[in-house]
Amino acid sequence: MADRRLAPFRVGQGWDTHRIEPGRPLILGGIHVPSEFGLAGHSDADVLFHAVTDAILGALALGDIGMHFPDSAPEWKGADSIRFLQHAVSLAKGKGYRVVQIDSTIILERPKLKEFRARIRESLARAAGLEIEDVSVKFKTAEKVGPVGEGLSCEAQAVVFLTLI
Ligand code: C5P
Ligand code: MG
Repeated sequence: MADRRLAPFRVGQGWDTHRIEPGRPLILGGIHVPSEFGLAGHSDADVLFHAVTDAILGALALGDIGMHFPDSAPEWKGADSIRFLQHAVSLAKGKGYRVVQIDSTIILERPKLKEFRARIRESLARAAGLEIEDVSVKFKTAEKVGPVGEGLSCEAQAVVFLTLI
């Protein structure tokens, strides 16, 4: 069989959701956002890093975050989610691709996140090995509708673009 030529680029999307839990730290894109509640989860529950990690795995058709980092495994309890993201970036490299652009959205009713945009972009860019100009982080409320709107949960969505190294 002839060698299958690698596509010049690949695209992936990711989505994640976590329940809001009082007393937990709120970690978004590796940044601690002051809040009386955080997100429930086996790891540090960084919903943005999880969505971006899934987007990269999706671009490579390598399954999803739970396949690579099962939440039943004790080694991932309380884990810093930057490790998941960096692992996905290294898998991309192993397949001959690099991440060149990330667009993302965090959907959370409160607190207001826009004052943290620069820090979150910078942190996500550093984690993924990108320049800040190539990383977008948007924020939306859910207009008080549904679990996010009622303040029960937080969601994140991400799209990534990969090119051949
Ligand atoms: O959801 P909505 O369109 O009402 O959001 C208005 C603006 O508020 C957004 O453009 C976003 O920058 C900001 N926002 C925020 N923190 C949130 C939700 C929205 O800073 N948790
Ligand atoms: Mg998650």
